[in-house]
Amino acid sequence: MATPQHDVVHLRPLVPGDAQTLASWARDVAFCQAADWSADLPYERYSTFWRDLIQAPPPDLIRLGVIHEGVLAGYIDLHGSEPTRRELGFVIGSRDRWARGLGRRAAAAALRYGFQDLRLNEVWAKALDSNQRSVRLLQRLGMRETARGDEAEFLCQPTFYRQFILTASEWRGTDRPKGPG
Ligand SMILES: CC(C)(COP(=O)(O)OP(=O)(O)OC[C@H]1O[C@@H](n2cnc3c(N)ncnc32)[C@H](O)[C@@H]1OP(=O)(O)O)[C@@H](O)C(=O)NCCC(=O)NCCS
Repeated sequence: MATPQHDVVHLRPLVPGDAQTLASWARDVAFCQAADWSADLPYERYSTFWRDLIQAPPPDLIRLGVIHEGVLAGYIDLHGSEPTRRELGFVIGSRDRWARGLGRRAAAAALRYGFQDLRLNEVWAKALDSNQRSVRLLQRLGMRETARGDEAEFLCQPTFYRQFILTASEWRGTDRPKGPG
């Protein structure tokens, strides 16, 4: 059965025209705090930041737009300079899009891109313990928790990082025990 259109997300390279949409998410201070963006800067600072980043991204950053129903609804990162291992990151903007499964579908699309297209061997991620949406999302993707990371703050409260890993073979399910027959 075909997937309903409202459940589909796809990834595409960011283009300079996306800078205004991305900058507009910074108008919401609560979003900035949750996403660890600087808050309360003039709008032009955000749009310049995004235009510059889209035109000349750092060499170790793959950042792709998340498209939902034809609109830019977030972005994913695959970050790092190792040839077969990258760190996954994800943002859904604005907050009115949260809790509709977009984050999970965007991150799943990022894993597919990383393992199928980039032929990565391993994707890792870290999430703040208090950022329950992010922790839950990584768990739902089947990522394996490996370690407790550094102490940090989330929404002005002390917390700590949790680290997760998924290998290509885990992603493909080839290392799962096979049933009889
Ligand atoms: C983290 C983020 C991407 C999640 O996006 P989203 O579209 O809301 O994610 P989903 O709808 O797929 O929900 C993910 C999980 O969080 C759960 N969730 C939703 N609202 C929640 C809440 N208020 N408290 C705890 N969990 C919640 C969902 O139920 C879901 O778990 P489930 O699949 O077991 O039901 C989004 O909140 C965001 O952009 N945050 C700022 C950036 C960030 O923190 N990125 C992660 C670090 S790289």
